[in-house]
Amino acid sequence: MADLFSRFQLKAVTLRNRIAVPPMCQYMAEDGVANDWHQAHYATLARGGSGLVIVEATGVAPEGRITPGCLGIWNDAQAEQLRKIAAAIKAAGAVPGIQIAHAGRKASANKPWEGDDHMAESDPRAWQPIAPSALAFGGGLPRVPQAMTLADIARVQNDFVAAAKRALAAGFEWLEIHFAHGYLGQSFTSAHSNQRTDQYGGSFENRSRFTIETLEAIRAVWPEHLPLTARFGVIEYDGKDEETLNESIQLVKAWRDRGLDMLSVSVGFTIPETNIPWGPAFLAPIAQRVRQEAGIPVSSAWGFGAPTLADGAIRNEQLDLAMIGRAHLENPHWPYFAAKALGKDQAAWVLPAPYAHWLARYHNPSETVKK
Ligand SMILES: Cc1cc2nc3c(=O)[nH]c(=O)nc-3n(C[C@H](O)[C@H](O)[C@H](O)COP(=O)(O)O)c2cc1C
Repeated sequence: MADLFSRFQLKAVTLRNRIAVPPMCQYMAEDGVANDWHQAHYATLARGGSGLVIVEATGVAPEGRITPGCLGIWNDAQAEQLRKIAAAIKAAGAVPGIQIAHAGRKASANKPWEGDDHMAESDPRAWQPIAPSALAFGGGLPRVPQAMTLADIARVQNDFVAAAKRALAAGFEWLEIHFAHGYLGQSFTSAHSNQRTDQYGGSFENRSRFTIETLEAIRAVWPEHLPLTARFGVIEYDGKDEETLNESIQLVKAWRDRGLDMLSVSVGFTIPETNIPWGPAFLAPIAQRVRQEAGIPVSSAWGFGAPTLADGAIRNEQLDLAMIGRAHLENPHWPYFAAKALGKDQAAWVLPAPYAHWLARYHNPSETVKK
C-alpha cells in the first residue's frame, strides 16, 4: 500500500515521495522576471524534502498575470531566471514543475496584501483584462473584461504553447496548465462566465473547446515522457454541484484522452457567491471520485497540512499526490516534520546532509553533538 513517503512515478519522472509544493504566487516579480526572492524561496522549499515543487502561476502573456508582481514566461529574460530556479529545485532532489497561467477577467489586480482587488482603471500599472465574455467577476474584482475575439483566442493558445516550449528549455520536467480558480481556462468552461454564442460558448461541448484545443496544442510540444498535468476546479459549490461535477469529469476524460497525465483537483472560484465547505481535507472525497470516474491520477490541496490527513488520503487511495501549501510556508521543512510525526525512520527525513546529520544526533539522546 502506498503512503506519503512512497515514491511516485508518472511517465519517466519519479518523485522521492508523495508530497508536493503546490503553486503559490509570491507577487514579488518585476516585469514578470524572477529575482533573488524567488531563487531563495524555491531552493528552500525543495531542500525541505518534497518530491515535487511547482513554481507559482506564471503568466503566458503580460495581460495574463494576476498582479503586476506575478511571474511571466513570455520572453527570454524571464525564462533565463526560471532556468536557475528549476536547476536549484533539481539540485535539491525535487522535481521542478511550473504552472503556466492566464488570469482572464481576474487579471490586473492589486497584490493580496495591498487589497486583493482590481487596480483602479486610472492606475498606470493597470491593464485591460480579457475573458470569454464581457462579464465581471464581481465582488472586489468588478472590472468588466473585454470579450475575446477569435483572433485573441488563437493568440492566447499560441502563448500557452510558447510558454510550454520555454518551460521545457528552462529545465522544468513537470508542466501544470492552470485551468482553475476562475482564471481564463476555468472561465471558458463555466456558463457563469462564458455566454458566447460562437463555437467557444453555449453547449458543454463548445465551452470545453478552449481548454481541449489548448491542451492538445501544448501536448504536441511537451515531450511524451514528461508529465503534463492541469489544475481545474471540478466543483463550484454554487448549488449545482452534481451537474458541474458530472460535466467536469466528462471534460477531464476528454483531456485524458488527449494526453493529460494527472489532474490537480480544485474548486472553480468562478463566482463570488458560493458555499464552500471549508475544512481539513474537504476535497478528498471529490478528488477520489474524479480519480475513479475519470480514470486518472489526482492530486489535491486545501487543508492536508496535518501529516496524518495527507498520509491517510494517500493510503485510502483518495489522492496519488498530496499538495501541501501554507503548511510549507509555515515550515519549509514540512516533509521532515511529517516523517517524524508519522514515525518514519531516518531514511524518510530527506533533509540535506548538513541539516540531517545534526538532527539525527539531536534526536538520539545517547549521542552528544561535538564540534
Ligand atoms: C500565497 C498563496 C499563493 C497561491 N498561488 C496559487 C497559484 O499560483 N496557483 C494556484 O493554482 N493556486 C495558488 N494558491 C492555492 C494553493 O496552491 C493551495 O491550493 C492552497 O494554498 C490550499 O492548500 P493548503 O491548504 O495546503 O495551503 C495559492 C495559495 C497561497 C496561500
